[in-house]
Amino acid sequence: MLEAFNLVIRKFENKDRNEVRSISHDTAFMGRSAGLFFEGKEIICDALNLYFTDYEPESCFVAEIDSVIAGYLIGAKNKIAAERIFREKIVFPLFWKALRSGAFLNKKNLIFIYNCLKALINGGLRTPDFTKEYPATLHINIKEEFRGKHIGKALINAYLDYLKRENISGVHLATLSRAGADFFSKQSFQLLFEGRRPYFRHILHKDVPLFIFGKKLARV
Ligand SMILES: CC(C)(COP(=O)(O)OP(=O)(O)OC[C@H]1O[C@@H](n2cnc3c(N)ncnc32)[C@H](O)[C@@H]1OP(=O)(O)O)[C@@H](O)C(=O)NCCC(=O)NCCS
Repeated sequence: MLEAFNLVIRKFENKDRNEVRSISHDTAFMGRSAGLFFEGKEIICDALNLYFTDYEPESCFVAEIDSVIAGYLIGAKNKIAAERIFREKIVFPLFWKALRSGAFLNKKNLIFIYNCLKALINGGLRTPDFTKEYPATLHINIKEEFRGKHIGKALINAYLDYLKRENISGVHLATLSRAGADFFSKQSFQLLFEGRRPYFRHILHKDVPLFIFGKKLARV
């Protein structure tokens, strides 16, 4: 199937930043647009991507077909270090940006934020810590029209090769998407944890499943 495409998997470059952010926005709700649960593209894109594209671009990859970005994988070699930078450098500027943009005045956003805070307080966002055995993490998204063409698989393989060269012992990731879960099982990732998330109940009228997958990496 791939022969029909001129597919190139390459390292992320700063010129790809806007396109990666756009794809991330358009796929953030289990493969569909983040606009379904949050108004404010810049805010949601900063929350989802800023660490990866601006603080660890060397761990990010894009899939390009005839100069069009079809999808991306953004990664972090050490999830704990990435979360520390997120807390120390990104959260407060992002909060002010959201405040100035009026994002907190939007009813859709307020319902989503309220649901997240409620879940946080009730302990509904907790997951086991897998960072010791699986220190790296990733997010991957392919534009809808390019799915099912082995582009995701090619991005994953490029990232796993990179992590092995960097002597990283394992990688884990969380997905709310059943399609994502089926994809990672197919890539021989192991299901480490299965839970539920309540914060989209106001849209879907039910909890969504949460899957955490991991893969140990043999050093090269
Ligand atoms: C999930 C996603 C990354 C997979 O990428 P993709 O390019 O569509 O998948 P590929 O074509 O590389 O699939 C590779 C293999 O996984 C299988 N696979 C992919 N999606 C699948 C699904 N939903 N159900 C079952 N198998 C699936 C393919 O059949 C293929 O198997 P094969 O190697 O035996 O032919 C992509 O579809 C996507 O971005 N989806 C929307 C957002 C999302 O769910 N992101 C993941 C969140 S972390």
